[in-house]
Amino acid sequence: MEVFECVKTLSSIRSFVTGDVPEEVIGEVMESGRLAPSARNQQPWEFILVTDRGVLKGLEKYCTSGKFVSEAAFAVVVLTDPSSKWHEVDSTRAVQNMVLTAWGRGLGSCWIGMIDKKGLAQYLGIPGSLNILTVLPFGYFDDGLSGHGKSRKPPHEVFHLNRFGVKPGD
Ligand SMILES: Cc1cc2nc3c(=O)[nH]c(=O)nc-3n(C[C@H](O)[C@H](O)[C@H](O)COP(=O)(O)O)c2cc1C
Repeated sequence: MEVFECVKTLSSIRSFVTGDVPEEVIGEVMESGRLAPSARNQQPWEFILVTDRGVLKGLEKYCTSGKFVSEAAFAVVVLTDPSSKWHEVDSTRAVQNMVLTAWGRGLGSCWIGMIDKKGLAQYLGIPGSLNILTVLPFGYFDDGLSGHGKSRKPPHEVFHLNRFGVKPGD
């Protein structure tokens, strides 16, 4: 899918259908994270790929606002290194890369924000030196769940031309 088309159609997916994802596609999603740009190229991230069905089911307990993770074909736990100043900004760019690549391959995802981080760290053996940014579930989905159009602020509310307060077309 062409990049802008991907951006325009991307939506959060919270329900998945069963279907194994080819390993090369999973590899592309992971690479998309690893290849993201970062401040001073510090790459303050690590990624745990979860494919084991038992572990995916186990994630549900810790993903308070994303219980649907247990239905995903795979999930990625995104870890950041807080010793790097821009760790969350950089890693969020890695997340968007992964989500867009997945979307282009027909896979949906959704940022899970509310996480019992202490519990999840213990569950997956994550060292205390790393921060858990998010858990991203990935999977195929029923087409009916996407394409409802984006609910976004209109252009005139968010765009300015050359200086603040001047609207394009004024
Ligand atoms: C930082 C962040 C945290 C989010 N946390 C959650 C979450 O915990 N659970 C959830 O279902 N969706 C979560 N979302 C998804 C947003 O609700 C969603 O992106 C927004 O409503 C716009 O919808 P769209 O992604 O379908 O365009 C999160 C998104 C972001 C960027």
